[in-house]
Amino acid sequence: MKLLHVVGARPNFPKLAPVHRAGVAAGIEQVVVHTGQHYDDAMSDRFFRELGIPAPDINLEVGSGSHAAQTARIIERFEAALLDTQPDWVVVYGDVNSTMAASIVASKLGVKVVHVEAGLRSDDRAMPEEINRLITDRLADLLLTPSHDASERLRAEGEPEHEIVFVGNVMVDSLFHTLPIAADTKFAERHKLDGTHVVVTMHRPSNVDDPERLRAVVKALEEIARDRTVIFPMHPRTSARMREMGLAFERVRALDPIGYPEMLDAVRGAWAVVTDSGGLQEETTALGVPCFTLRDNTERPVTITEGTNVLVKDLGTLADLVKVNAMRGKGSRPEGWDGKAGERVIAALQKASAELREVVHAP
Ligand code: UD1
Repeated sequence: MKLLHVVGARPNFPKLAPVHRAGVAAGIEQVVVHTGQHYDDAMSDRFFRELGIPAPDINLEVGSGSHAAQTARIIERFEAALLDTQPDWVVVYGDVNSTMAASIVASKLGVKVVHVEAGLRSDDRAMPEEINRLITDRLADLLLTPSHDASERLRAEGEPEHEIVFVGNVMVDSLFHTLPIAADTKFAERHKLDGTHVVVTMHRPSNVDDPERLRAVVKALEEIARDRTVIFPMHPRTSARMREMGLAFERVRALDPIGYPEMLDAVRGAWAVVTDSGGLQEETTALGVPCFTLRDNTERPVTITEGTNVLVKDLGTLADLVKVNAMRGKGSRPEGWDGKAGERVIAALQKASAELREVVHAP
């Protein structure tokens, strides 16, 4: 069995790492294609080094652009890479443009697609990621889900039972793997984060592209920073919007993007996290840290029903909610968020490949 992993953007990398590691342990031939959707060292290469992923075998260097332009570049360049590589499976992760683009190319060339993190739905098509999720899941031949509600959703959408396999959350594998070395970064110590601090991340177009909304977000974060340290490692999209709109923080401590172990060092002891990231909703649930998500919906409802996540729809309430912090000490870790999901991904692929061989060889 030969696997071709496709990654492109920052949240893909902690998902690839444990699957690749489990693939190496199983002696499977693997090729990593980086589309180049994210390209700055701080958004990409650094994560490969920190997560111990070998440098990509192929980089398509598509760079930034409109959704159509970026997706089109990935489609065109990935087709050539796929024809050259001839894998048995294309492994796609999460919900970024690279995920959808690679699925389209592989499906049309008749190469099997496996989607890691299948079945998540926000039911909000204003989110580009929702469109990526829908198309990827429709096309994928094997749908590996992080939670049981995701499996249920795929069944409800009519996906055949034999294509759906619950494997748990691969990102939690990376979290457990990296946590022991997070303190070595001394990030919390350097920034004097003493457990009363709040960590913020914000990058969704719905929060940062509309000037009125971004102004309201800045105001709400400044309000929290009256009482406690608030650190905000900023995604390049957010810093660009802040600059364009002439906005700046007074009390909130804005930083350049930080690395993965540094982020874990900041988050694990935090009073709370305020975010619009999908990954942080899950990481805070795995760590038992309260998370306030500035969105109207989430494709990860298990972080609310079982974990520590709360959706905040009215920004005016954020500072009070963070002060009261009702989720502190509550929540539990969902099933399969146990550090072994990468191994289950490889096991599911081996089983599906064996079943395919049986079908091919049947009389
Ligand atoms: C992408 C994903 C989003 C994910 C996010 C995580 C899609 C549709 N969106 O959004 O799901 O949550 O990544 O970060 O796939 N930029 C840089 N350096 C980089 C990459 C981007 O400066 O290495 C800047 C560019 O100005 C670019 C902007 O950030 O235009 C946005 O990047 P883009 O990849 O288009 O979308 P993200 O907002 O990062």
